[in-house]
Amino acid sequence: MSFEPDRISQVVLRPVAADDEEGFLELARVSVDLHHPWVRLPRTPSSFSSYLSRSDQVTAVCMVLCRKDQDDLLGMININDIVRGPYQKGVLGYAVFLPYAGQGYMAAGVALAVRHAFEHLDLNRVEADIQPGNEASLRLVRRLGFRKEGFSPGFIKIAGLWRDHERWAITRDMELPAVRRE
Ligand SMILES: CC(C)(COP(=O)(O)OP(=O)(O)OC[C@H]1O[C@@H](n2cnc3c(N)ncnc32)[C@H](O)[C@@H]1OP(=O)(O)O)[C@@H](O)C(=O)NCCC(=O)NCCS
Repeated sequence: MSFEPDRISQVVLRPVAADDEEGFLELARVSVDLHHPWVRLPRTPSSFSSYLSRSDQVTAVCMVLCRKDQDDLLGMININDIVRGPYQKGVLGYAVFLPYAGQGYMAAGVALAVRHAFEHLDLNRVEADIQPGNEASLRLVRRLGFRKEGFSPGFIKIAGLWRDHERWAITRDMELPAVRRE
């Protein structure tokens, strides 16, 4: 895990804001081929507005990943479907923006999101549902120490099709290799 700690020190995760609309939509549009068929991000002002409203900080926390030394958006990371009570869990959604793919930023960002979920949102469990062919995403969660828990056929409808997903998760008692606990 030699690469993540330096990347972690270079990035910041913050709530998505109305001011991000123009930059976010442009990056989502130029990254569409990279994202398909894994995720579908807002690409119009009205879908961005729905996205902002979904980030109610109760059931969902939607964040953007930025470099500390510049304003560029590197990617987006959501903690969706937060369930309290006996579950205390959330489900990750994430995507890198071009041209920042494959440079270790998203592994750092997802590690920060998991730490935020455990330490600030007081969740016990963070899940990631990943299509079997999504090698980049599978490598990312493996690298961060997530555990594969199962497989669900036709689990999520993305771009009009019900797609199979592997179900991965990390719980608070597990080691998150990239992040030293404070
Ligand atoms: C999944 C996804 C977010 C992964 O993003 P990514 O940019 O490839 O992930 P990382 O930031 O961790 O980059 C990983 C690569 O960067 C390299 N890297 C790591 N640290 C580095 C550093 N300091 N400098 C240069 N390269 C580095 C690693 O070698 C790694 O390569 P590997 O995966 O072949 O081992 C991206 O492919 C994506 O947005 N896909 C479409 C949306 C999607 O699938 N979302 C998830 C749905 S479940």
